[in-house]
Amino acid sequence: MDVETFVRLLEPAGQALLAEVRACAGDESDLALGARLRQDHDAALVAAAVTQNHLRGHARAKFGEAAATMYATLDALQQSTRAPVAAHRAERLVETGVGSVLDLGCGIGGDLLACARAGLRVTGVEVDPVRAAIARANLAAAGLDGEVLTADAMTVDTAGHEVVFCDPARRNGKGRIFLPQGWSPSWKFVTDLLRRASVVKTAPGIPHSLVPDGVEAEFVSHGGDLVEAALWGGPLASTRRRASVLPSGEQLSDADEPVSAPTGPVGAYLYEPDDAVIRAGLVAGFSRCVAGHLLDPHIAYVGADELTSTSLARAYLVREQLPFRHKQLRAALRERDVGTLTIKKRGVDVVPELLRQRLRLTGSVPATLVMTRVDGTGCVLLVEPVQPTG
Ligand SMILES: C[S@@+](CC[C@H](N)C(=O)[O-])C[C@H]1O[C@@H](n2cnc3c(N)ncnc32)[C@H](O)[C@@H]1O
Repeated sequence: MDVETFVRLLEPAGQALLAEVRACAGDESDLALGARLRQDHDAALVAAAVTQNHLRGHARAKFGEAAATMYATLDALQQSTRAPVAAHRAERLVETGVGSVLDLGCGIGGDLLACARAGLRVTGVEVDPVRAAIARANLAAAGLDGEVLTADAMTVDTAGHEVVFCDPARRNGKGRIFLPQGWSPSWKFVTDLLRRASVVKTAPGIPHSLVPDGVEAEFVSHGGDLVEAALWGGPLASTRRRASVLPSGEQLSDADEPVSAPTGPVGAYLYEPDDAVIRAGLVAGFSRCVAGHLLDPHIAYVGADELTSTSLARAYLVREQLPFRHKQLRAALRERDVGTLTIKKRGVDVVPELLRQRLRLTGSVPATLVMTRVDGTGCVLLVEPVQPTG
C-alpha cells in the first residue's frame, strides 16, 4: 500500500468501502469479495480495504477493542508494542511528572497512542511515509491529539523535548536483527540518547554488559511472555535492573537484591520465577521476598515452606519427591495411575517429549513433574500448580 492509496482509504469513499468489506467479510471469500468490489472501485483501494480489515483482526491480540478502528501494515503491526506494555511505560512516564514525549521511530503508533492516552503531549517521528501516515490516522481514529513528522529520527533536534522515546527497528526484510549494531536508528544513536531523559525499548535478550552505566534496564513480561527490556536513561533511571510482570504490574528491582541467595532443601512450595525476574538477574531478591531459598545455587527454582501470593513466579505445591531413575520413576507414576504428564525441567539433561515416550503412561490422572537438581543431585518432584489469587 502506498501513501496515496492510504490517503484515499481515509476519504469518505474509502471509509464506505472499508465498512462494506467489514460487513461482507466472512460471508464471501476474499477472492469473490475482491472481484465484486473491483467492479465499482479501483483495485489498489479494494486491496487496501481488504488488507486493513484482516489486519484489524490480527491487531486485536495487541490492541484489544481499539484495533477495530486502527490501521496497520503487517510488518509494522508485528513490530508494535502490545497495548498493556505500552500503557505500563506511559504510566511510569506520567508518574515521573513528565508532560510530553518525542517518539523517534513511532511506526504505526503503538507507544505513541499509549502515551497520548496517558495524557502526555506526543510527537512522533517516522522515516517510512506510509507508517507515518498510519500513525497520524491512528491518533485521529482514537480521538487523540498529537503530531507525526515524516523524517529521519537521526536528523531531528531533540533538545526542546522533555523525554525522548525510541523503539529501534530490530527487523529488516530478512528477519530479526540480533546485534544492536544492526538496529535502526543505530545503537550509537540510542546510547547517546540514554545520557538524557529517555527510554529505549530493546530486545529482552540484550546482554547486561551492553547497558550503559547509570542506565536502568527494565525487563518486562506480559501474560508470561518476556517481551522487552526498556532502558531508562538520565534522571529517569531509578535502579540498575528491574523486573515488571504484567498485567499485575508487580515489580522487583536490584535495590531489593541481596548479594546471594541461601540454598536449602525442597520445601512445601516451589516457585518458578517469571522470565522477567530471571533475565533481570533478580532470583536472589525474589527468593528473599517469599522467605525462600534456592534448591541449587545455579538454578532458578526457589523452595519455601510458606505460600506467598505473588505474580513474580508460578507457585507449586510439592506433593512428593519421586525417584530420578527412569525405571523407578515409571513404576512410581504407574502406581499413582498417572496418564498425561506435564514436565518442567531446569538444570538436567532431559528431553520431556522423549521421557514421556519412554515412560509409556496409560493412567487416568494428570500430573506435573519438576525435574531439576537439588544441591547438585538430580531430583524429581511431583507438584500441583497453585492457582494465582487476585
Ligand atoms: C520497532 S518499530 C516502532 C514500533 C512502535 N513503537 C509501535 O509500538 O508501534 C521501529 C520503527 O522505526 C522506524 N525507523 C527506523 N529507523 C528510523 C529512522 N532513522 N528515523 C525514523 N524512523 C525510523 C521504522 O520504520 C519502524 O517503523
